[in-house]
Amino acid sequence: MNAPVDVTNIRIETDRLILRPWRQEDLDDFYEYARVDGVGQMAGWHPHESIEKSQAILDGFIRDKKTFALELKDSGKVIGSLGLEAKDEGLDIPEELQGREIGYVLSKDYWGRGLMPEAVKAVIDYCFSVLGFDYLLCGHYDWNRQSRRVIEKCGFRFLKKVAHETRLGTTEQVRLYILYNPEKAR
Ligand SMILES: CC(C)(COP(=O)(O)OP(=O)(O)OC[C@H]1O[C@@H](n2cnc3c(N)ncnc32)[C@H](O)[C@@H]1OP(=O)(O)O)[C@@H](O)C(=O)NCCC(=O)NCCS
Repeated sequence: MNAPVDVTNIRIETDRLILRPWRQEDLDDFYEYARVDGVGQMAGWHPHESIEKSQAILDGFIRDKKTFALELKDSGKVIGSLGLEAKDEGLDIPEELQGREIGYVLSKDYWGRGLMPEAVKAVIDYCFSVLGFDYLLCGHYDWNRQSRRVIEKCGFRFLKKVAHETRLGTTEQVRLYILYNPEKAR
């Protein structure tokens, strides 16, 4: 079952980041990283060709209340997103267990500094300790070694391979991983 989620009043602080709901004022920062070639494709979407595209996606983030903005503490700049997405059907996870699938994107300018593992670990901790989720999922396209490393660093275990239809009109093989809440007996 998909765990209910609403990030409206959530603020998570890590050493270098603040995770908080998206705001309309984040539009320029969002477009700045979402327009860069080679970023969105790794998560299944085209680089944004206009600020109007970013505006439409930003409106969705604000409306759906399931995606955090990643704000750099030292500059206040928004450099990425982390969403708690509905999981795919047919994963053989007992229906009574509640969880979500983590998805993320980071501005290319900030790759390789361990920022996304820092954000993901903080969200895992929040979802398990505060929201009481039973599990979290995370996945990457077969060839996306960068995302694979994030998932490994955060302690997820391989679950299965699934086919995924992307917004680019392609089908990708996704390696899906799971992490169970250690505070809950199973
Ligand atoms: C996946 C992503 C979030 C990783 O975030 P990050 O904060 O850079 O993560 P890390 O710093 O832990 O680096 C992860 C791996 O990326 C690779 N990497 C680091 N810097 C890199 C760079 N500048 N260019 C290419 N690869 C790089 C390294 O292999 C690193 O693994 P290592 O630490 O074992 O050497 C980021 O690469 C990204 O936003 N990619 C585009 C969107 C995407 O793939 N989203 C996930 C969809 S499943």
